[in-house]
Amino acid sequence: MIGRLNHVAIVVPNLSAASAIYAETLGADVSAPEDLASHGVTVVFVNLPNTKIELLHPFGDASPIAGFLEKNPAGGMHHICYEVDDIEAASAQMVATGARVLGDGKPTIGAHGKPVLFLHPKDFCGTLVELEQA
Ligand code: CO
Repeated sequence: MIGRLNHVAIVVPNLSAASAIYAETLGADVSAPEDLASHGVTVVFVNLPNTKIELLHPFGDASPIAGFLEKNPAGGMHHICYEVDDIEAASAQMVATGARVLGDGKPTIGAHGKPVLFLHPKDFCGTLVELEQA
């Protein structure tokens, strides 16, 4: 069912320091920071030949990643995102296999304007998984 790795998201305590690590130390193509107010994050995209890394920092008072940063003050890997062709079919397959979809189980519009689901880390090897209809 899953296809390409769309992105790996890393929460960082300092976006400009993290951008410099990727741009200068690792020599990657790094975007300017973008505030995604409705998602409560500021994101920097690291564009790699085969996928993207998203450097995330909390934006606003009710950021969904604020708690993660409190528990992981140095930052850390937050989730991985796989592409699927059909998000409704993916949701049905999760329900059929007993894997837990976070929230009410219905797809929401993700940070890239496409339908996404988040899957419970305990059902996926300790990793928060995002499925995105690409
Ligand atoms: Co994501």
